[in-house]
Amino acid sequence: MVKEEAQKRTEQLRSELEYHNHRYYVLDDPSITDGEYDALMRELTGLEAEYPEFADPNSPTRRVGAAPLDEFQSVPHKVPMLSLQNAMTEEEVRDFDKRVRKLLGTDSVEYVMEVKIDGLAVELVYVNGVFTLGSTRGDGYVGEDVTQNLRTIRAIPMRLTGGGRPVPERLEVRGEVYMGKKEFLDLNGHRELTGEPLFANPRNAASGSIRQLDPKITAGRKLNIFCYAAGQVSGAAFQTHMEFLEALRKWGFRVNPYIKACNTLDELFDRYHYIHRIREEIPYEIDGTVIKVNRTDYQADLGTVSRSPRWAIAFKFEAQEEQTVIEGIEVSVGRTGALTPVAILRPVAVGGVEVSRATLHNEDEIGRKDIRVGDAVIVTRAGDVIPEVVRVIDAGRPGRSFPFRMPPQCPVCGEDVVRPPGEAIRRCVNISCPAQIKGRIEHFASKRAMDIDGLGTKLVEQLVDKGVIRDVSDLYYLDKHALADMERMAERSAQNIIDAIDASKRRPFARFIYGLGIRHVGEHISDLLAERFGDMDTLMAAETEMLLAVPEIGPEAAGSITSFFHDPKNRETLRRILGAGVEPEFRESGGKKLEGLTFVFTGALGSMSRDEARKRVEELGGKTASSVSKKVSYVVTGGEAGSKLDKAGQLGIKTITEQEFLKLLAG
Ligand code: IVH
Repeated sequence: MVKEEAQKRTEQLRSELEYHNHRYYVLDDPSITDGEYDALMRELTGLEAEYPEFADPNSPTRRVGAAPLDEFQSVPHKVPMLSLQNAMTEEEVRDFDKRVRKLLGTDSVEYVMEVKIDGLAVELVYVNGVFTLGSTRGDGYVGEDVTQNLRTIRAIPMRLTGGGRPVPERLEVRGEVYMGKKEFLDLNGHRELTGEPLFANPRNAASGSIRQLDPKITAGRKLNIFCYAAGQVSGAAFQTHMEFLEALRKWGFRVNPYIKACNTLDELFDRYHYIHRIREEIPYEIDGTVIKVNRTDYQADLGTVSRSPRWAIAFKFEAQEEQTVIEGIEVSVGRTGALTPVAILRPVAVGGVEVSRATLHNEDEIGRKDIRVGDAVIVTRAGDVIPEVVRVIDAGRPGRSFPFRMPPQCPVCGEDVVRPPGEAIRRCVNISCPAQIKGRIEHFASKRAMDIDGLGTKLVEQLVDKGVIRDVSDLYYLDKHALADMERMAERSAQNIIDAIDASKRRPFARFIYGLGIRHVGEHISDLLAERFGDMDTLMAAETEMLLAVPEIGPEAAGSITSFFHDPKNRETLRRILGAGVEPEFRESGGKKLEGLTFVFTGALGSMSRDEARKRVEELGGKTASSVSKKVSYVVTGGEAGSKLDKAGQLGIKTITEQEFLKLLAG
């Protein structure tokens, strides 16, 4: 290829890849497969290696992280990054509205209500549509240059597309970088395994990840962004905040879907309560809503006072923190033998959910927070989900209390416990420990693995304690009468469980791999393995190099996979499972329930990402499309359904709610 051609192709690949990034990460609506995307990326990487003179820091290949820095440079903000005044009650919002109307000398003001995302504010600067600088808020006047780290967030566009609206010469956009609840729990789960200190909440995780001198670490953290405000903008003007948000969308920014114009206080309050109700379903943490005056000329008239705008206010939710007492500390043993201390709490309602236990993660965490039995503590629900002890209230400590010590022996089987150097976790070394056996079976039977309905914790516990089963393979040789002998188990339910075990003989291969509970092999890696190796024999025979050749599988996972399949005990278990007629099916699922059906999604789903929904549909033999046409069977309407709904109405396509969709999946 001659040089000019190569340069042209490089440019073309860069804009194509950016376009697909936008479809995938911003619109959640990819139009090519991962394989096709990877092929384009490989071609670009090849060209950039061959022609280093075409280098561009904004190239899609650079999203994996540049070289580490020694320190961050300071960045003054041209327009200060203000904070918001808080309102905790409707009364305070009424006062705000009164003030606004009085200062503007008008009776009616239109507001916009958004969600208040719990992350960290950043500023992104674009010159002639090219991303040139990204910074943290800092003290509002001067922040830190975190450009390299922000490049790793795929939802941040590196070049702005016109999208029907000219791109301003200089555009400063502000937004919130955050970590989703699931990503936060996964990250902490991983850190727990590797003995690294845990993040207290998604906000700290996001902020710790952005303030990393090594961008490769940031790249691995699965951060995301919503953009919601402007800094300095030259060469464009907006009459309203809504219009500005629409322009952001057109230019390729990710804008939150929960945005609503409200004309009265009642509308604002209704919306606030609605957002509060669906809070748990939103896949990232929010700590309230933000109310903004819609008209930009009004915003300018109102101005700012003591570092906050007079045209906006945060209407916050009550903190999900409560005080209670640690009544005891139990140590539980998981399927990998990990000993986890669990606080037994005097029951207390946190954000409407009763909490009586909270994980304490490991002994280092307990030591760091100095948590002792009898202490008065503050508990919260981190990531809105998992109860967590935030801190001890010192003043409440009784005179005689002792620091907690982890037991030197496994509390379940009495074997020795080891703490490998550099790890924070103690493990029971006995792989025949009943707690480990139970954990492995429960994991194998769980919804996301073999999905054996009715085989829950209590039943597994009895079956193992009574010696009826010793490992997962025994499930497939289980006798109905032995099962019916268990407590609270009638003939009928025993049969149901036998049927459920039978039905699990045909699950997608990826779920089967995941169910084996191989260390470092989660759902995603299981998907990759199923796709790459196709069947059990090929996977079992795969050597380390072949595993390492799969993108995203690193040495840790590869080593753990080969040693799992080389272990004679595991081989015997697998032989018995397959011998009982278990036939994991590649990419298929029981019954192909959705065969012949095509789904389109509109609006944000509460219970899963759109990507996940798409995957579930495909697993069940169905198809998905990105736009509504006559071929579509159902339009699934999420929280803030968009224009696809009108189209569905015109074409007479059936629309279903998220609940109805979930029912279809469950069949
Ligand atoms: S607007 C001048 N909108 O809340 C107003 N802020 O306490 C600029 N935040 O520093 C901010 N979600 O980090 C705005 N939808 C939203 C927001 C939001 C979260 C954060 C932001 C800001 C802080 C203000």
